[in-house]
Amino acid sequence: MTDSRRPVAIVTGASGGIGAATARRLSQDGFAIIAHFITRMEMAQALSDSIVEAGGDCWLIQADLTTVEGVDDLVAQVDQILAAHRHQELQGLVNNAARMLGPAFGSATANEYDAYFALNTRAPFLLTQALSKRMRPGSGIVNISSAAAHFASPGDIVYAMTKAAVESLTVNAAPALAGRGIRINSVVPGFTDNGHAAFQDPEVREHMSGFSALGGVAAPETVAEAISFLLSDRASRTTGTILDVSGGSTIGARPYASRRSLRDRASQ
Ligand SMILES: NC(=O)c1ccc[n+]([C@@H]2O[C@H](COP(=O)([O-])OP(=O)(O)OC[C@H]3O[C@@H](n4cnc5c(N)ncnc54)[C@H](OP(=O)(O)O)[C@@H]3O)[C@@H](O)[C@H]2O)c1
Repeated sequence: MTDSRRPVAIVTGASGGIGAATARRLSQDGFAIIAHFITRMEMAQALSDSIVEAGGDCWLIQADLTTVEGVDDLVAQVDQILAAHRHQELQGLVNNAARMLGPAFGSATANEYDAYFALNTRAPFLLTQALSKRMRPGSGIVNISSAAAHFASPGDIVYAMTKAAVESLTVNAAPALAGRGIRINSVVPGFTDNGHAAFQDPEVREHMSGFSALGGVAAPETVAEAISFLLSDRASRTTGTILDVSGGSTIGARPYASRRSLRDRASQ
């Protein structure tokens, strides 16, 4: 049963590890959730069921954010949900959906380059542009960057470039949105156990751990905690910045890290 007082937050890529943890956390914070997915409907449905079972609200949206049409379709579906629940206002957006890792400097094709930038950078830009117009003052937007944007990894160059652009979007959109009382920030995760098989491989996990000054990999709930903070009134004076939850992966203290890309390592 919908609680008509709940503010609404959209999480793209909510069928993935960090997105699902974020949707659950924001629901606990009192948001009604619009959870986006593209292929893993069963993961999205399980997320929605768990939120509703815990007393929250969750609507599912399917859209391919690689295309402009898919972005427009997501916005149109959000409009339909908001029109059907007129007392619930949009107050949060988490631009989380992305293609991860690779392609490498030596092998990246123009098509791959465009596809990574379309999903990881253009979609957050267009969604921020369109959905911020539907937000009231006090709302917040969080873009998910990556520690990969902060160190050289030629094997993942295109992915890293998309995430550097996401941080630039955050900085440059902040003053544009501030006049409307909307804050925008980035979160920078390092390796975070999103449930993918690679995180079960001890050798791959050790490789990932070597990037972090604190060692280990993060739980998705740790990233969700930072997103929760940035969307809350506790961060009411925070905009245009990045919150690093990479376990110190961006400070260069990586005594055990290999310089090979994770993709090379996982495919051995
Ligand atoms: N996990 C890490 O180690 C790590 C580290 C640094 C940064 N990050 C960042 O954290 C965010 C979440 O990552 P994650 O680890 O949770 O990844 P994940 O589990 O692989 O989830 C990726 C999400 O993106 C969605 N997606 C993929 N292609 C899409 C498309 N064409 N259109 C729309 N949605 C699409 C997926 O939808 P379906 O599941 O429905 O296919 C899924 O919900 C990403 O921005 C990533 O770059 C992750």
